[in-house]
Amino acid sequence: MPHADSSLVPSSITSKTEFWAHVHGQLASLLSGQRHWVTNLANASSMVYSSLLAFTAHFGSGSQAVNWCGFYLNSSLFPVPRFLGQDGSDNNSAAADASRLLLGPFCGKPACQFINISPGKARGVCADAYLQRRTILVPEVDLYPGHIACDGETKSEIVCPLIFKKGDKEIMLGVLDLDCLAVSGFCEEDKEGLEKIAALVVSACDW
Ligand code: SME
Repeated sequence: MPHADSSLVPSSITSKTEFWAHVHGQLASLLSGQRHWVTNLANASSMVYSSLLAFTAHFGSGSQAVNWCGFYLNSSLFPVPRFLGQDGSDNNSAAADASRLLLGPFCGKPACQFINISPGKARGVCADAYLQRRTILVPEVDLYPGHIACDGETKSEIVCPLIFKKGDKEIMLGVLDLDCLAVSGFCEEDKEGLEKIAALVVSACDW
């Protein structure tokens, strides 16, 4: 099957529960055999975004569409340019700045490059989901204190944390963020489905 076809949604799928189970299965196949997070998160954002556009029973490409889907990641995860620091200087200072989430792989229009997560400066849905380690469902973004509007057309949003469990330790990696053109675009079923997608993405990569 061509890779692009993995985001097709059969017309027999009409409930959100079926939809998320379908996307989970397709994504698991797509990510198998690859462990790099850049590659896998790029394909994951495309898979979720394209599948939602194809899911006309609830989202589709009209006024109910998801208009953004992607990742913000702790900046310490990002690679530094490989030719920096060959003279022995510290090349890790940029990557060591853990006070920000940086824009990672996504689908949709351009978005803000970073989200502040430092104490006293953190603001917005992504920062809250990351710092509180829980999914945040926002039915109406204009009513959410501190919401960062990357696109004035966005009406609702859902953000899931990406949590890597190592023994009894939880390491925060970043968040998976989705925006929708409709008020109350996302519900509890989407939350459950997306949390499973987030867990799959975390387990499919070497961090
Ligand atoms: N609305 C987010 C910012 C990211 S964009 O939606 C892509 C927030 O409040 O954190």
